[in-house]
Amino acid sequence: MISAMDENRGIGYKNKIPWHIKEDLIRFKKLTEGKTIIIGRRTFESLLDYYKNSKRPFPKRKTIVITSQKNYQYQSYQKISDLYFVSSFAEALDLAKKIEKNEIFIAGGAKVFEEGIKYAQKLYLTIVKGVYQADAFFPEFRDFKIIAKEEKKDDKYNYQFLLLEK
Ligand SMILES: NC(=O)c1ccc[n+]([C@@H]2O[C@H](COP(=O)([O-])OP(=O)(O)OC[C@H]3O[C@@H](n4cnc5c(N)ncnc54)[C@H](OP(=O)(O)O)[C@@H]3O)[C@@H](O)[C@H]2O)c1
Repeated sequence: MISAMDENRGIGYKNKIPWHIKEDLIRFKKLTEGKTIIIGRRTFESLLDYYKNSKRPFPKRKTIVITSQKNYQYQSYQKISDLYFVSSFAEALDLAKKIEKNEIFIAGGAKVFEEGIKYAQKLYLTIVKGVYQADAFFPEFRDFKIIAKEEKKDDKYNYQFLLLEK
């Protein structure tokens, strides 16, 4: 799983990430490029907004979106390559195992993290110092041990990059 969270495990507010840390976005990009990510429909819509001025949204990775809505349509998705829609978490995992020989990333949001944590072997976490207003949270992850830790900061945020394993 890959996620950025505050010290209260907050990950989002009103379907947006509460901070903007460029190095974290670069880390996400580097780790997931060429691989497969699994996301929920609400995170998909939030990312579409982020990519709204881009000619090639969701570049360089395969994206599996979970939604219970039959015939889920999104006006911009025709231009997105390597995009798949499935109707359950189990279906997302089955498909990911078929199309991905390498690493599969569970990339949020709260509902998908909640469902996915029992399957996760590694957590790539960014812990942002402080507590932000949030309505979406990462689940507890006491079963995982920290394997690597890097302290980071930019002009606005103090944060850590963590790698944890079961
Ligand atoms: N900080 C981070 O690293 C990070 C990463 C990602 C997201 N986020 C934040 O997380 C928040 C979104 O989280 P969220 O929990 O509200 O939404 P979400 O997990 O992104 O999406 C939830 C939706 O996914 C679909 N879904 C999930 N599991 C399903 C299942 N088993 N079967 C069928 N459909 C399923 C449903 O879509 P339908 O309603 O269409 O059926 C559900 O409403 C936002 O604030 C976002 O910015 C933060």
